[in-house]
Amino acid sequence: MSSATNNSEYNYKVVRQFAIMTVVWGIVGMGVGVLIATQLVFPELNLNTPWFSFGRLRPLHTNAVIFAFGGCALFATSYYVVQRTCQTRLISDGLAAFTFWGWQAIIVAAAITLPLGYTTSKEYAELEWPIDIAITVVWVTYAIVFFGTIMKRKAKHIYVANWFYGGFILTVAILHVVNSMEVPVNLFKSYSAYSGAQDAMIQWWYGHNAVGFFLTAGFLGMMYYFVPKQAGRPVYSYRLSVVHFWALISLYIWAGPHHLHYTALPDWAQSLGMVMSLILLAPSWGGMINGMMTLSGAWDKLRTDPVLRFLVVSLSFYGMSTFEGPMMSIKTVNALSHYTDWTIGHVHSGALGWVAMISIGAIYHLIPKLWGKAQMYSVELIHGHFWLATIGTVLYIASMWVNGISQGLMWRAANQTDGTLAFSFVESVENSEIGYIVRAIGGAFFLVGMFLMAYNTWKTIADESPAKAKAEAQLA
Ligand code: HEM
Ligand code: HEM
Repeated sequence: MSSATNNSEYNYKVVRQFAIMTVVWGIVGMGVGVLIATQLVFPELNLNTPWFSFGRLRPLHTNAVIFAFGGCALFATSYYVVQRTCQTRLISDGLAAFTFWGWQAIIVAAAITLPLGYTTSKEYAELEWPIDIAITVVWVTYAIVFFGTIMKRKAKHIYVANWFYGGFILTVAILHVVNSMEVPVNLFKSYSAYSGAQDAMIQWWYGHNAVGFFLTAGFLGMMYYFVPKQAGRPVYSYRLSVVHFWALISLYIWAGPHHLHYTALPDWAQSLGMVMSLILLAPSWGGMINGMMTLSGAWDKLRTDPVLRFLVVSLSFYGMSTFEGPMMSIKTVNALSHYTDWTIGHVHSGALGWVAMISIGAIYHLIPKLWGKAQMYSVELIHGHFWLATIGTVLYIASMWVNGISQGLMWRAANQTDGTLAFSFVESVENSEIGYIVRAIGGAFFLVGMFLMAYNTWKTIADESPAKAKAEAQLA
């Protein structure tokens, strides 16, 4: 065992556990993604059973990729980063272990109840009330471990990555508690405490900030630690990173109404959501540029280092989706994009391009360090993974743009003579088939990459590196 593995200064055990589960849940969540993408081409794959139907597997996919895959990546990296940058061990090994086992139990509960049809029907908050309570308990424990560790830090300064992680932990706690206010009728069914337009507003205040804080702020924390580390350069502008933090957290929280354009929500609230979303472009791009410019003087490393490629390409997808989002929040653009596959394309340019790619890069950085190895078992396999992930993402989002814009245009096309609709809805579905096939292929590319990652991780941990084998052969 190496010194890093035995390092008693830091609690690496919980980081290792979460890192492994990131890969496992990545494969499960994306596997279900590929399955539901294929169901949209071959509906027979619904197998004529409710448990296997698209409607029940879709929330299983979103919960698995966001909270299981993304969540484990955030737990793993935040526990690692907070210890390294505060130069101290987590305040409690027991509480940290509780967050690991508690979070896994919640994921398993979701994987059982969602296919069985138990749901609150609120998107990204589908889990029923007993699981909601469990999430609150685990999350509060997470906050205690994270902020407690910051409080007993040995370094004077609180590094900016911790600000992003801290903002994410606090805000997600508030969002979850407020949006999950519900009245239970039995163990498996509850009704929202809100109704009508208020219910919709609270739900999308939650939904949008789940994107802003779970899928963005937390991963920006990851970016601010792993990009400089992997590039071997300091953050381009530390001052910009602090401005980035405050600007991002104060703007995101207002943008939710862009999910409710042209609904019963008051018009002023819709316009406010639109304006705040447009302003959001500035801090998002400020952060993206700060990350990219961190590579100044180290761009050559991109030719040889596939881990750095993952991190940098994730930043370009972040830039792309945070340009696209503000455009889609303009009411007239949203009139075309809403309800179409354009939204799905936007989601996955953020989800695959940004969230998944930055997590994959960070985990590749971590695995050898956590198990005390010099490097991953195979750098070639990481190169392969990088191309599969990049091509898969591009196939996914390009096909959804074509589908989405065609759908939007077909739905609004009218015959000039009498004003009747030029196309039936079914015609727009038929027209989408090729896009759905391309999307399923893109998803399969991404998934195969995840299997390469699992194999590479397994071999690294088992210490069967070709370099070691060669050295042993020479000795023999
Ligand atoms: C192999 C990769 C993936 C495939 C094939 C895939 C496929 C799909 C499909 C088919 C849908 C349903 C679209 C519809 O209803 O028309 C969906 C929805 C969604 N996926 Fe994925 N997905 C993948 C990875 C991910 C990842 C990594 C994330 C997040 C980190 C993610 C987040 C979401 C979200 C949030 C939705 C709901 C979007 C909405 O309601 O607008 N997906 N995905
Ligand atoms: C400045 C940043 C962003 C803005 C202003 C923005 C704006 C938008 C808009 C206008 C929609 C369409 C709402 C609709 O018509 O229903 C949307 C949907 C969505 N966006 Fe973004 N977006 C941004 C960044 C991101 C990023 C980085 C991600 C992912 C990591 C993301 C994930 C999503 C998801 C999951 C949805 C679908 C929600 C649903 O209907 O289920 N967004 N966004």
